[in-house]
Amino acid sequence: MDSPVVDRLLALLSEHEAEQVKVARMLHDDAGQVLSAIGLHLEVLRGDLTVEQNEQVVEIQNLLETVITRIRAASQALHVNLVERAGLGFALEQLACKAREKAPELTVQLKVTPGERWPNEPAHAAYRIVDELVENVIRHSGSQRVEIRMQGGVVEVRDEGRGFDVEKRTPGLGLLLCRHLARRAKLGLAIQTKSGQGTIVKLTLHGA
Ligand SMILES: Nc1ncnc2c1ncn2[C@@H]1O[C@H](COP(=O)(O)OP(=O)(O)OP(=O)(O)O)[C@@H](O)[C@H]1O
Ligand SMILES: [Mg+2]
Repeated sequence: MDSPVVDRLLALLSEHEAEQVKVARMLHDDAGQVLSAIGLHLEVLRGDLTVEQNEQVVEIQNLLETVITRIRAASQALHVNLVERAGLGFALEQLACKAREKAPELTVQLKVTPGERWPNEPAHAAYRIVDELVENVIRHSGSQRVEIRMQGGVVEVRDEGRGFDVEKRTPGLGLLLCRHLARRAKLGLAIQTKSGQGTIVKLTLHGA
């Protein structure tokens, strides 16, 4: 996280918070996607090249991969900073906007109690966890609505989808990572779900 690219990007953080979000998104979504597309085009090209040319293309692809990884790190650094500087509530608003863009058919509701402020560590963890939970709602729930609430030391993500069996092992890593992040930040994490009856995930700040 201490590469010159990240330093240069972090220097931009003296600008407005909204500007940070734009930069992070532009980097991650636009620049990241364009670079990935270049990598794919190169892959197609490789079929018609000599062995030597092929080796060069592979080198270019490796460089591209490095840049993509750095961009991801830079974008992540900007988001982390956003949580600290603008607060979890604001960061969740950005997350809700991102979800609306990604899944236009989904109604994303956000209710944040004004003035609610979380310490940095649990706030970072909560941001990353909510990101994964909303992604899960989009990918797995079939719900038409998701509600994100932040109130009285509790952040909640609710959907009205198909629900699932929490005990059942799956190859996915998202929820496992959420539990890990919650434990590390001393956040309570409770999942309430039943087949056909939606899902509620509650994150509780210690002592709330
Ligand atoms: N909101 C939800 N509604 C319905 N099913 C869900 C929901 N969230 C999770 N699940 C179920 O729980 C499983 C495990 O979720 P998890 O996030 O751990 O993995 P994943 O999303 O499948 O993969 P990954 O997160 O690693 O990309 C999912 O595959 C899905 O079947
Ligand atoms: Mg997941």
